[in-house]
Amino acid sequence: MKIIIIANRLPVKIEKKNDRLSITQSEGGLSTGMGSLELNIEKHWIGWPGIYTDNEEEKEKITERLKKFNYHPVFLSAEQIENYYEGYSNSIIWPLCHYFYSFVQYKTKFWETYQKVNMQFCETALPFIEDDDLVWVHDYHLMLLPKMIRDHRPMVSIGYFHHIPFPPYELFRVLPEREELLNGLLGADLIGFHIHDYMRHFLSAIYRVLDLNCQLDEIHLEDRIVHVDAFPMGINYERYHNAPSQPAVKKKINNFKKKLKNQSIILSVDRLDYSKGILHRLNGFALFLKNHPEYHEKVSLMMIVVPSRSTVNKYADLKTEIDQLIGEINGLYSKPGWTPVHYFYRSFAFRELVALYSLAEIALVTPLRDGMNLVSKEYLATKSEENTGVLILSEMAGAATELSDAIIINPNNPKEIEMAILQALSMSEEEKKERLKKMQKRISKQTVKKWANDFIDEIQYIKLQNREIL
Ligand code: UDP
Ligand code: G6P
Repeated sequence: MKIIIIANRLPVKIEKKNDRLSITQSEGGLSTGMGSLELNIEKHWIGWPGIYTDNEEEKEKITERLKKFNYHPVFLSAEQIENYYEGYSNSIIWPLCHYFYSFVQYKTKFWETYQKVNMQFCETALPFIEDDDLVWVHDYHLMLLPKMIRDHRPMVSIGYFHHIPFPPYELFRVLPEREELLNGLLGADLIGFHIHDYMRHFLSAIYRVLDLNCQLDEIHLEDRIVHVDAFPMGINYERYHNAPSQPAVKKKINNFKKKLKNQSIILSVDRLDYSKGILHRLNGFALFLKNHPEYHEKVSLMMIVVPSRSTVNKYADLKTEIDQLIGEINGLYSKPGWTPVHYFYRSFAFRELVALYSLAEIALVTPLRDGMNLVSKEYLATKSEENTGVLILSEMAGAATELSDAIIINPNNPKEIEMAILQALSMSEEEKKERLKKMQKRISKQTVKKWANDFIDEIQYIKLQNREIL
């Protein structure tokens, strides 16, 4: 048996600089989580290498370089990237699933291309798939794929995991293609979500759109039963927990500390995305600065914003707004030797990122909606009894269901953000340790490996059950 992972993105991306191709780690929870996964099964990954090229020789070169990792690229044309990735996936499904209904932009080309690209992923994957394999499809870019694979390989086990929220029926119903998308997913044997709420919304959509018989976590089709379950995704806990004691990371921590002098650091890390509540966070921090001058020159917000989907209008507009607001805050409050907001618009490598996690006293994670949010878990994992930290977490992140010992806030209320920062800065060491211990206990058990194994075990169990029925 092999496992065939199919996701829009490979865990690495190919970049071209000065005519040379280089391979770097992709950002985003799906890639970092799944990419760090070590399983005792032969693993293949099919996905887009993150680069556009129409040069056949270059395509061959890329295919060859990725082959040794068992990564198999799906090359997309500029038109496909525009209409399938930027279009249907990120201008329709993404905003809708994150409750940004008014951000949805519709063009018929989007849907046509979405169908065609799902078929292209299917065609690339089929030669690798044998009947006893497990095919695991990931995320909203490929919602039609489970059915397409089922049509060609009726006996194979197929799982689908939705890494983003699934919205309530009243939102989902606005999609003209709601039936096709749900039928596409029903090609799977098991459909997974991060938390029960998303699963509940999905089952209600199945019942109301398709009028199918749902019994608890099962959907009864004529010839099969489709199972639905919640699997909260975790991180590679040991990797983050052990990182701060590595000499190379220690060196980075000391360098950062020297440059930041004795300031307390509030850290935030996200892709540039309207779902992440970056402007709300800045407004909350500005209120904190306004009302608490006693913390000026003592506390800074370090904001890492990773470039993302910058060709989609809403993302480009947001970048301008963030730049402006940070400019205003720094313009208003900076003093010689102190900048309230340190802003980085680029991605960080693992060692730098964990060094920042490690030195930050507070992590401020304020998404307006987030399927899970792995950054909050990574931050907690790098901490220890000797180097504690406080997590401020939005109640709208999937992670909030597991991390109830964080300071939980509603990100839409700047006053709550201000008060949470204050609470975190004045929290006793004892309370910090107590909260950290409870959350670390949870995330060190619910790791990404356990998440994947739970999903795979459940699919195998379903396969056995179905055999008995047949
Ligand atoms: N990340 C990264 N480099 C950066 C910033 C973030 O590799 O400079 C990673 C981070 O470690 C995390 C992921 O990107 O694993 C973000 O995942 P999350 O679930 O928080 O949000 P998503 O981007 O998937 O919406
Ligand atoms: C989220 C999605 C992933 C996606 C990631 C990065 O985590 O659930 O499917 O890969 O964001 O976004 P990008 O558009 O760069 O792949």
